[in-house]
This record gives sequence, structure tokens and C-alpha cells, in this order.
Amino acid sequence: MKHLLKLADLTSKEIIDLLNMADQLKFEKKNGIDHPHLKGKTLGMIFTKASTRTRVSFEVGMYQLGGNALFLSGNDMQIGRGEPAEDTARVLSKYLDGIMIRTYAQSEVEKLAAFGTIPVINGLTDYCHPCQVLADLMTIREFKGSFKGKKLCFVGDGNNMANSLIVGCIKVGMNIAIACPKGYEPDAELIKWGYESGKLQITDDVRKAAEGADVLYTDVWASMGQEAEAKARRAAFKGFCIDSELMKAANSDAMVLHCLPAHRGEEITAEVLEAHAKEIFEEAENRMHAQKAVMVTLMK
Ligand code: CP
Ligand code: NVA
Repeated sequence: MKHLLKLADLTSKEIIDLLNMADQLKFEKKNGIDHPHLKGKTLGMIFTKASTRTRVSFEVGMYQLGGNALFLSGNDMQIGRGEPAEDTARVLSKYLDGIMIRTYAQSEVEKLAAFGTIPVINGLTDYCHPCQVLADLMTIREFKGSFKGKKLCFVGDGNNMANSLIVGCIKVGMNIAIACPKGYEPDAELIKWGYESGKLQITDDVRKAAEGADVLYTDVWASMGQEAEAKARRAAFKGFCIDSELMKAANSDAMVLHCLPAHRGEEITAEVLEAHAKEIFEEAENRMHAQKAVMVTLMK
């Protein structure tokens, strides 16, 4: 494993190895055991989109590993004024030991990896959000004990989260159902790959998707960059919401996850979010442990 550009590049074993290391790092952190695996190393964090969790969890995670993290606002860098990713990658490779980038186009992330000589970590693109799904899988295993035969139901937009969940869930042996309105399906190639595995279901029937689910998952109806579509999306996604009624269709001990930020009253009700705050905020915490495992694996 040289980079984390998308989960599809990882084998099932590589994903499980990362999750095992994340559990170990979490245990050490909780028990006051230092783990300065990246002493003297520096991670550059390029953001051309907003972030709370990703930015803080990477920065603090790097600090806990004995290293340094630089926040690089894409808008203030020359890349924001048109300097090609090909050149940015070669320059940053001279100073840094790793790059984390959050941006729009997946191709930008792939270019940094192709032209640089240091590991590149995808901190979210329009296409996928692999770091989030590693934390999600870590949280599912923590609460449910195992993956095999478990079912996750994703309610809402076939966006970056849906794309990464399809790959992540199937690679660890879970079944996944996506409930989305027609026209808002996930990436077509991933759907094809998922169908071939026999572990994916796509439907616009939210109840049907939630039946027998061990995990209910949702995300915002309009992602970053889709602000202009927000009104139309609110109409299209009406009913694609995790509420107490939908919870009844899932297994009685179903957990709820949300990558956050959440829009209460849209994709999830305040009632369900608060009832499942324990796992949702553990999921947010696990971002840091999972990403520390990624950084150690790629940068040590
Ligand atoms: N879930 C997530 O990536 O959160 P941020 O946008 O706050 O980083
Ligand atoms: N789909 C959301 C995820 C935010 C973490 C977005 O891209 O804005």
C-alpha cells in the first residue's frame, strides 16, 4: 500500500490490517501508552473544501504520532491559482513526508500521487471518502463484534459516502442496501462491481432497504459543491430520512451512523440522532484512530 486514494485500491486484508492497527492505537491512546511512530515527519494537509473532523483528527493524530501537520488552504496555495497538481506534487515531495488532500476532483488526488514521491491520502473528493469509511467500519466492528453477514442500509444521495461504503462494506464481507431516489444513484461502475459480488441492493424503497439492517447510515442531501442544487434536492429527497418509523423496519438492535455534519429534519431526525449519539460520536472519534493507522502504514 503506497497511497490511500480510494478503498477500491486496497485488498480486504489491507483494510482489516488497518482496522486492527487502528484498534491497537486507540487502546494505547486510552491507556496512556505513547506511540511516536512518525517522530520528525511532516504531513501537509491541503483543503479546498471546508472541514471540521478531517482537519482536526489528522492534525491531532499526527501530533500524537510524534509528527507535525501543516494546514494548507488550497485557496491560498498556488494550486488554487492554476499551478498544476503535477508540479505541486513534485515540489511538496521535497519538503513533506505525506500529503492529505480534500478537494473536488478525484483526478487531482490521483495526479498528486502519480507525480509526487510521497504517500497521498484522500481526505474526501466528490467521488469518495475512504478515511470516513475506515472509521465507519472500525465503529461497526466495535459495536457489532464482526462484519460477516451484517447488513448496512444507506439512505439518501448516491454520493461520495455511498460510493466508499459500497466498496468498504463488500470488501469486509457485509451486505449493503442503498435507498436513493431515481437519478441519484451511486457511481455506475461501482454498482456493476457491487452487483457482481451479490452483496449490493439499490432501490428507491427506503423501507425495503432498511429491512433486516444492522446499521442504518445517512449523509446530507446536498454535498459540498452542490449548494446551488440544495432546494431541488430537498424536494427530490423528501422521505429519504432516518426517522423512528424507519428504525422499526431495521433490526431492533440496529445502530445508526452519520459521517456528519448532519442536517436534522432532512436526512435524519433530531430524535434518532440523539438516541444514537453514542455510536455517531464514537464514529467521529474513530476518524482519528483510523487515520493514524493509515499514516503509520504509509509514512513510517
Ligand atoms: N465527516 C467529515 O469528513 O467531516 P468534516 O467535513 O468535518 O471533515
Ligand atoms: N457528502 C458530504 C460528506 C461530508 C463529510 C460532502 O461531500 O459534503
